[in-house]
Amino acid sequence: MATIQEKIQDLKARQEKVKQGGGAKRIEKQHANGKLTARERVEKLLDPGSFVELDQFVRHRCTNFGMEKEEAPGEGVVTGYGTVEGRLVYVFAQDFTVIGGSLGEMHAAKIVKVQDLALKMGAPLIGINDSGGARIQEAVDALAGYGKIFYRNTMASGVIPQISVIMGPCAGGAVYSPALTDFIYMVKNTSQMFITGPQVIKSVTAEEVTAEALGGAMTHNSTSGVAHFAVDNDDECMKQVRYLLSFLPSNNMEEAPLADTGDDPNRMDAGLNTLLPDNPNQPYNMKDVIKSIVDNGEFYEVQPHFAQNIITCFARFDGQPVGIIANQPSVMAGCLDINASDKSSRFIRFCDAFNLPLINLVDVPGFLPGTDQEYGGIIRHGAKMLYAYSEATVPKITVITRKAYGGSYLAMCSQDLGADQVLAWPSAEIAVMGPAGAANIIFRGDPEAEAKTAKYVEEFATPYKAAERGFVDQIIEPSETRPRIITALGMLASKREGRPAKKHGNIPL
Ligand code: HXC
Repeated sequence: MATIQEKIQDLKARQEKVKQGGGAKRIEKQHANGKLTARERVEKLLDPGSFVELDQFVRHRCTNFGMEKEEAPGEGVVTGYGTVEGRLVYVFAQDFTVIGGSLGEMHAAKIVKVQDLALKMGAPLIGINDSGGARIQEAVDALAGYGKIFYRNTMASGVIPQISVIMGPCAGGAVYSPALTDFIYMVKNTSQMFITGPQVIKSVTAEEVTAEALGGAMTHNSTSGVAHFAVDNDDECMKQVRYLLSFLPSNNMEEAPLADTGDDPNRMDAGLNTLLPDNPNQPYNMKDVIKSIVDNGEFYEVQPHFAQNIITCFARFDGQPVGIIANQPSVMAGCLDINASDKSSRFIRFCDAFNLPLINLVDVPGFLPGTDQEYGGIIRHGAKMLYAYSEATVPKITVITRKAYGGSYLAMCSQDLGADQVLAWPSAEIAVMGPAGAANIIFRGDPEAEAKTAKYVEEFATPYKAAERGFVDQIIEPSETRPRIITALGMLASKREGRPAKKHGNIPL
């Protein structure tokens, strides 16, 4: 009979075998392709030495097509828990060196286990995807595995942050687990997501497209809007995931972690008083406003390459993490369109689910006109913004820098949609529409049109009509925006707002 020492040696040998994954040759190939291995990725994601691996010895039980002879160390996925900046997170990382990271029954079971633990413990889950998809030999068992994962992604939505990292192929139905999570990172040149690959597309539609053009990082970051971040390499990607987590609470019952940023909450910026061009039709860069007002000028932009007419980002005010939604006058004049509506609505709902106050910076001339937009359903998509802002119960602070016209004024969280504080710069123009459009309708053919338009501008292209009705709480100097927002956040810290009991709402999708 083996001694305990021999049993310990045996355990070590078994563990070492699992750590080698698909073996040196396949690891070499992974590196040659510019990719880290699953274990290297996990090490980079977590605080040093904090990773605790689970289910090292789980094995598949497939016997189709000679699979009983196929050893799959770790079952093609590394799972477990650890910490990021000392806070608990759960992780799974598919190991492409083991049967192409393909997902079968037991591979899925390992993922499902960390999903269940993350939800029970109220800790974020980070999923690293690098897989040939459903393990073909396992047939419907593989499909069932995906189904179980999708179900748990949905149950965990709005309870714990779920972050997906795509670091290799992610094809077919496999894309839907990432799509159900809150944020998708893609690594440039090494990751692809698509429902049907180039060969299938060619055989069905005769269309020729490369995998990169079809579903590479920039395609999904700039064209489809499926992904939220495009990153240069695996190493940088893991740093960015850690950075994202620094803004987030671990679950929906917690507040986001306060940070000591060292920036003076009373800091003013005289530069903001001269930032806006005198001509209201000239653009400026709203990111200059954001940089000026947030702690240390630091913000983390979400979907920076998609729908650039609206900016969504995380930042801090006096150490308190917030979500910022801001029109960008330097892109399409800051108009709201289908993509901007989708991008911002999803971000608003994420922030509301995870107790992050919403800061809305408004300079919006309206919804983008055109048949493209109407046929594409701008009515349905734009309605998402109204819905998302209305249902949000976190503190909502709206700052109107310049234009706030018509429906888009409401869609950027006016007081009527529940903004707790509306601040306006003296340059704010809160009106049903811009002066030129208004004059064209109400003064058309009027010999005094010019004089009347000038009067309209003087009376209506200001914040004062809105302030007379109490729709604006404070008219402030641009320079004092930061301290005014911080004071308002302090005042709103104890905000409690209920909503009627319901199963769930029916956001226009
Ligand atoms: C079983 C797989 C596999 C899979 C890859 N492998 N994908 N084994 N099931 N889905 C194995 C390969 O046989 C190979 O084994 C090893 O993984 C590495 O694969 P390579 O082809 O050598 O790697 P590479 O050249 O880099 O190509 C990667 C790839 C290609 C583009 C991902 O492997 C591929 O096209 N795989 C099939 C993709 C696919 O059609 N999946 C099903 C999608 S449908 P050896 O032993 O040689 O190392 C789907 C439905 C999900 O996923 C539905 C959910 C609802």
